[in-house]
This record gives sequence, structure tokens and C-alpha cells, in this order.
Amino acid sequence: MLLAILWTRFAPWTFQLRTPLVIANWKLQGSRDLCGKFKSELRIPSNVEVWIAPPALYLDSLVSGQPTSAKVGVQNVHFDEAGAYTGEIAAGMVRDLGGIFSIVGHSERRTLFHETDQVVAQKFLACCEAELTPVLCVGETLDQREEGIAKEVVWNQVAEVLEKCDPAVFGRAQLAYEPIWAIGTGVVATPEDAEDMHGHLRSMIADSTVLTGEELRILYGGSVKIDNASQLIAQANVDGFLVGGASLDIVQFNSICQIASGN
Ligand code: PGA
Repeated sequence: MLLAILWTRFAPWTFQLRTPLVIANWKLQGSRDLCGKFKSELRIPSNVEVWIAPPALYLDSLVSGQPTSAKVGVQNVHFDEAGAYTGEIAAGMVRDLGGIFSIVGHSERRTLFHETDQVVAQKFLACCEAELTPVLCVGETLDQREEGIAKEVVWNQVAEVLEKCDPAVFGRAQLAYEPIWAIGTGVVATPEDAEDMHGHLRSMIADSTVLTGEELRILYGGSVKIDNASQLIAQANVDGFLVGGASLDIVQFNSICQIASGN
């Protein structure tokens, strides 16, 4: 069974379709020292893409001098392109500094900074306009999972964005399923639960848009570590990871990237 899944996941014809992607989300952590490690010690397997989301202040440290071999981006942008928004950064500025993506709608932004679905959708569009790839995060609370409404909640978060943008544009985004109860808790979704949600999202996208759903990478996030990554990546619809805590240690992060390569 495992061999069959691995074959489907990594067979040459499917492999081209969705190259595994691993994103490091440093959150409010990191330093010039960590940037240096990600420039000199990061090992990216040839069949994996690696992106780094440091605090925006460190974007330039990662791309200047001898740049990191990973693509870089940010954890959040403002929805407007410019204006009187003290303390904010715009998607165009990220692009100007060499960034290629922004995380959008992370649950910490939704809960701690009160970002509504509507604000998340505006930020998604701001990224697309500035030619940054949005990495849209969705996920349910433990209560919602226990109530049996996880799939509905998560799909509604996607649908809110889909309603406001051209599906072709949506097709160029990345999606990250991050159950809120698994973020930073050490409790990881079972591979079966992750696969169930990822498969659901892919088929809902196929049913509700002109997209096939096959073009979209769906990453899993929430307590990804060396010891759970291989079972998660073996799932047919898990196309990579959004890694928080374990991305602050270059050795662990390199191992997770290696696991994502399937080798
Ligand atoms: P974690 O965070 O890996 O520390 O659980 C993941 C995330 O919030 O993106």
C-alpha cells in the first residue's frame, strides 16, 4: 500500500505536476545569524522547492551578498499598495526586495490580529496584483473539528477568497491546510486526517471552479517535525509543508526538506 502511494506521489508524470514545496515560517523569530545559516547550510534536494518566510526585516539579509538558494517571501502584507498605514508593508515592496510570495490568512493573523475573511481575500488580491504568490492558510479549531464541521469551515475560508478572484489567478496560489489545534502544540494531524482534508479541498476546487485542482499545491502545516514528516508526505494529496518551530533549526529543517523529496 505504502509503495503504491509513493509511486503515485512521486512517479515521473505526477512529479512534474506538483513539485513538493517546503516553506519555513519563522514567525516573530530569527536573526542575522539564522539568515547566515540559511545562506550557507541550507541543503535543497533537487526535486524539492524551498521557500523562506523570515520577519520582513530580514528579507534583504537573505538575498544580499551570497544569497540563499531558497526563494524568499514574507508572512504578511497590507492589502493596500501604499498609504497612511504606520507599521505596515506592501506586497510591491516585498517584490522590490526580491521576495516572491507572502503567507496570507495565517491563523495567528486571523485570531490575534482579527483579520476577517474579507481582509484575507483583499490581501490575497494585493499579492496577485504585485505578482507575489499568495500562500493561503486555512484551518479549523479543535471545537469545530469535534463538532464535525471542520470541512465546511475550511472550505468556507477558501470559498471566501475564490469568490473575489478569478479562478485562473487562484490556480497560481499555494494552499496550506493548518489545523489550528496542531500549530505550535506538538499535536500533529494524523496522515489520514490530513489526506482527507487535502483531498476534500482539491475535489471542492475541481467541482466549484474551472480548475482541475490538480495544479494546486496543498501544503500541510502544524507541528511538522522529522518524525512525522515522512508519513504525511506519503499521502497523495499532501504536496509539502509549512513549517514553523522546526524551521528555526537548520539541521532539522534540512532533514524535513530531504524527507519531502521522498529519498
Ligand atoms: P508549527 O507552526 O510548525 O510551529 O506548528 C506551523 C505554522 O504556524 O505555520
